[in-house]
Amino acid sequence: MQRVLSGIQPSGSQHIGHLVGALDNFVHLQQGHESFYMIVDWHALTSKYEKVEEIWPATLELAATYLAVGLDPKKATLFVQSQVKEHAELHLLFSMMTPLSWLERVPTYKEKLQNAVADLGSYGFLGYPLLQAADILIYKAAKVPVGEDQLFHLELTREVARRFHFLYNVSTFPEPQAVLTPTPKVPGLDGRKMSKSYDNAIFLRDTPDVILEKCTRQMASDPARVRKTDPGNPDICPVFAFHKLFSSMETVEMVNTECRQAGIGCFDCKKRVANALIERMEPIRQKIECNLADEAGLKDILADGSGRARAVASETMREVREAMKLPTLG
Ligand code: TRP
Ligand code: SF4
Repeated sequence: MQRVLSGIQPSGSQHIGHLVGALDNFVHLQQGHESFYMIVDWHALTSKYEKVEEIWPATLELAATYLAVGLDPKKATLFVQSQVKEHAELHLLFSMMTPLSWLERVPTYKEKLQNAVADLGSYGFLGYPLLQAADILIYKAAKVPVGEDQLFHLELTREVARRFHFLYNVSTFPEPQAVLTPTPKVPGLDGRKMSKSYDNAIFLRDTPDVILEKCTRQMASDPARVRKTDPGNPDICPVFAFHKLFSSMETVEMVNTECRQAGIGCFDCKKRVANALIERMEPIRQKIECNLADEAGLKDILADGSGRARAVASETMREVREAMKLPTLG
């Protein structure tokens, strides 16, 4: 069985973009693969080092979410990055042999540095993609389900693996491949990409009345359609994008036809989308709340998963230390 690995930062509540963009893919891949899904709390520290108290609650919430969307701790190893210290050791060793220029030229680096709210001018933030390379390679993962914005990090991961092999004349790490989601990006309520920082998200913990409110009052539609009698263009309408993701085929076809001939009003159309969303999201929301109420149960699952992950990671580290001629004393 091929090994799959991915991770999400515990840096705030998950929204529909995470569900469609990443989590659904995780669930799909736990079938037929040996899968490892982690919560990257060290990565969250690169931007939350001044708000450390937020990370553990967000970790629990993300664990509750992993389970609620259908990840099964019997099939997938669910774990917390900071509980497997071997990642830090591999990161350190990689940092000795990775040219600084490889990290400085990561396209997201300078951009994030300038746009972020926190000061990201730290050593750890520059090394973010290298820690990610360690996360992936330590499990010898073959596939990594991620969003498009992570492709460069995967490329860097492969380059680090090649350099390691070249320098120490070994072939420790298989080259990991990204697995992109088949689904297109989820638009936010305003039509831009859904993101917590744009304040345009529908969160997995939003209650039905909040979802209804957000869909009917906040969601953008075709701006050219001013009156109900004006025909609309679903192709440029975020509401229609949601229909395609969450409504039945019949509804999608109906909206596609009726909108163009002004046969359906935008308010009605948005209410339908809200109902489709609620139908899909409400069972997930209830499971998240229910899982969160059992903190001890969540901790057990994470402790167990972290132990299983550690067994794999420490085996890889044995090979790495040997390749780098580090001693094993006592
Ligand atoms: N950088 C990833 C993101 O922001 C999170 C991440 C950290 C990750 N380590 C990983 C993803 C290893 C995949 C594999 O989405
Ligand atoms: Fe968008 Fe629906 Fe209005 Fe058409 S009817 S413009 S798809 S909200």
